[in-house]
Amino acid sequence: MRTEVAIVGAGPAGLLLAHLLAQDGIESVLIEARTPDYVLGRLRAGVLESSTVDVLTRAGVGERLHREGMEHSGIYLQWPGRRHHLDFVELIGESVTVYGQTELTRDLMDARQRAGQRSYYEAADVVLHDIDSEAPSAAFTDATGVRRTVHAAAIAGCDGFHGVSRTSIPAARQRIWERTYPYAWLGVLAAVPPSTDELIYAWHPEGFALHSMRSESTSRLYLQVDAAEDLADWPDERIWDALALRLGHGQDGWELERGDLTGKAVLPMRSFVSAPMRYGRLFLAGDAAHIVPPTGAKGLNLAVADVTLLSRALRALVREGSTRLADDYSESALRRVWRCTHFSWWMTSMLHTSRDEFDSRLQLSQLEWVASSTAAATGLAENYAGLPIEFQGAPS
Ligand code: APR
Ligand code: PHB
Repeated sequence: MRTEVAIVGAGPAGLLLAHLLAQDGIESVLIEARTPDYVLGRLRAGVLESSTVDVLTRAGVGERLHREGMEHSGIYLQWPGRRHHLDFVELIGESVTVYGQTELTRDLMDARQRAGQRSYYEAADVVLHDIDSEAPSAAFTDATGVRRTVHAAAIAGCDGFHGVSRTSIPAARQRIWERTYPYAWLGVLAAVPPSTDELIYAWHPEGFALHSMRSESTSRLYLQVDAAEDLADWPDERIWDALALRLGHGQDGWELERGDLTGKAVLPMRSFVSAPMRYGRLFLAGDAAHIVPPTGAKGLNLAVADVTLLSRALRALVREGSTRLADDYSESALRRVWRCTHFSWWMTSMLHTSRDEFDSRLQLSQLEWVASSTAAATGLAENYAGLPIEFQGAPS
């Protein structure tokens, strides 16, 4: 079969790219390894920057987001005895919206259904061919066992960290940067209304904790644990006791409401960047090219920024035969990737406790500085809530 753009991976990056291309009348074929329910079942962060909300709104997939999303003016930074509110709206005039990635993925799947374009779920043995030519193709075995090949003008690798796209680029043409952190997050979903109006990022001698949410009736909470932590060592009571301690239950009368835990998982923490994000007619976007620790809530926003830039490049390539944006794509996308990689590393390093007393003093001093300096608070706000899609960095 032939299409204009073959997209490998139907997570947020692949689905949004398909939608943005369809808005420009560009046809695509989606090739996804899993079932729709499996893709929807992945519990992932959903804190959307204003630039992400703008992209989704302009693309006509923001209706439920505006109806059900929870707009937050900022976050709380906490450490023993202190809880400080950072007001992003006051600092930089931007808010963030809490809207689970599952919901966004559902909205994008509905849009794909309405577009009536071809999507192959449960696709196996995906192999990319001739990606360094102007006639690349993606071969796969469909859910019925039929081997198919999609010929396209370009291939978008949106298949995440474990996909085949990034590894289809010759190793000699690729550079990898990676940092694995000595801790992980134990994440839980709790059937209890959030005990806070906005997210609480808490530093504590026993370890970091985060109080987030999914709705008015569902809380999402995380605990720093060792990288090799065994979930079996964390019965519900122990989880709630650790969350209560680290989030300051009883501090200034604040209480952490407990409830049934409906989901538990240990999530690894890593920073990962691969460059370039383009090789011939293969373009990488989202987790296929980079991974950030979730402390900065950047993963989904970075995927949206990548595919916004990529959709413009592919439209120019396919409709006008112009390669300028395609040639610039990797460098433009990587400027924002490195900005978010640094910010996610900075938030992670500031908030995750090591057993080293010197490090702890540095972390507490940094938290005090952000809480007392408008300049420092503005820096955090800019990176957390206010990065433009086309982040340019310093003028060359
Ligand atoms: N062939 C086809 N599809 C594949 C393959 C493959 N070989 N390997 C993986 N996939 C699919 C996965 O099943 C998944 O649905 O590619 C999709 C990749 O989606 P994500 O991993 O969600 O990545 P992305 O779309 O870039 O979204 C990034 O997800 O991981 C979070 O924090 C991250 O919020 C961010 C978002
Ligand atoms: C979440 O709600 O899952 C979440 C929010 C903010 C983060 C990470 C995860 O930084």
